[in-house]
Amino acid sequence: MLRCARQGSPNPSGFSEALEQAWTPAVLGGTLSPTMSESVPKPVTASTRLAAVWGSPIRHSASPAMHNAALAALGLDWRYLACEVAPEQLAVALEGARVMGFCGVNLTVPHKRLALGMMDDLDVSAEAWGAVNTVVFEAENAEGVWTPIGLLRSFSGPVRLRGYNTDADAILRSLREDLHMEPRGARVLLLGAGGAGRAAALRLADEGVETLWLQNRTESKAAELATEIAERFPAVDVRTGLPDSDVEFILNATSSGLKPEDPLPLDIQAYPLSHADAVYDMIYRPAETPLLRAAQAAGCRTANGLGMLLYQGAAAFELWTHRAAPIEVMRVALMREVYGTGESR
Ligand code: ATR
Repeated sequence: MLRCARQGSPNPSGFSEALEQAWTPAVLGGTLSPTMSESVPKPVTASTRLAAVWGSPIRHSASPAMHNAALAALGLDWRYLACEVAPEQLAVALEGARVMGFCGVNLTVPHKRLALGMMDDLDVSAEAWGAVNTVVFEAENAEGVWTPIGLLRSFSGPVRLRGYNTDADAILRSLREDLHMEPRGARVLLLGAGGAGRAAALRLADEGVETLWLQNRTESKAAELATEIAERFPAVDVRTGLPDSDVEFILNATSSGLKPEDPLPLDIQAYPLSHADAVYDMIYRPAETPLLRAAQAAGCRTANGLGMLLYQGAAAFELWTHRAAPIEVMRVALMREVYGTGESR
């Protein structure tokens, strides 16, 4: 059985015991559990429906493993792909997906904010949390009601792109489950003010953090976000730069750590990690980033972003298919993808 990071194991996801139990010896040994062995994907045909994750870089993504396992478990004739899409190509990629009948797309670094202005319609989640990580392609059904096209056998009219944010709730759930952190009343240092950082900052402010320090490589983006939070959540003490006190947790929402050559997203000379009880890194591959390694060495509890990935993915799956996401199948698929081989591609 895998151990969690608190026990100094190579599994810094901080996943709860339920997850550890989900990681059965049968899966570890490379054989499929009964549930998964029944989940043979349907063959790809001309009617197979498509979904995908787009980002740059994208080769590290575990989303295809997670979603294809879920689609197969429910017997859906769908496939989920990963595509390298540069930010300057995002608009044309979305138009391509629209005309090719894609059912859904997830967006990751660096698209989440950029996509806000490319949607035909924004769900309240994308409006509230200021970023899009899930696109639902919709067409009108026979009654003229806009409907996810994954639910329509056929459609002929225009397709519209509706943007959602499923990251914000996912980060809260993962912080609670994997790090046993309660954001309400907490002092938090948030690293990053891109799409993911922004959604996390706004969601944490809405949840009632006491003090939120925003630190970003480009300082003006942190300042802009701080101004928005001060206006929308006046009860939150929001500041930019590094804290002048201890914090309950540090949350890394930057992409620094995805590549081996990346610098730490935090200057740990200026703000030693021992000032934090816990550190959460949204990155999940590598499963143990240099930041998480340094945090463990400093005695912090740690978790990587696998729980956030799971819950944002489950919510996206439900928006596209209107079927309950098979969470445990998705969890096991993720664990096998990220820890099973131990290799990052
Ligand atoms: P996403 O939409 O997934 O959040 P993004 O909007 O491109 O992706 O945001 C990436 C975040 O990682 C930003 O906060 C970025 O800082 P800048 O605003 O200065 O670009 C941060 N980031 C990326 N590379 C970094 C690095 N090497 N060091 C520190 N921060 C970095």
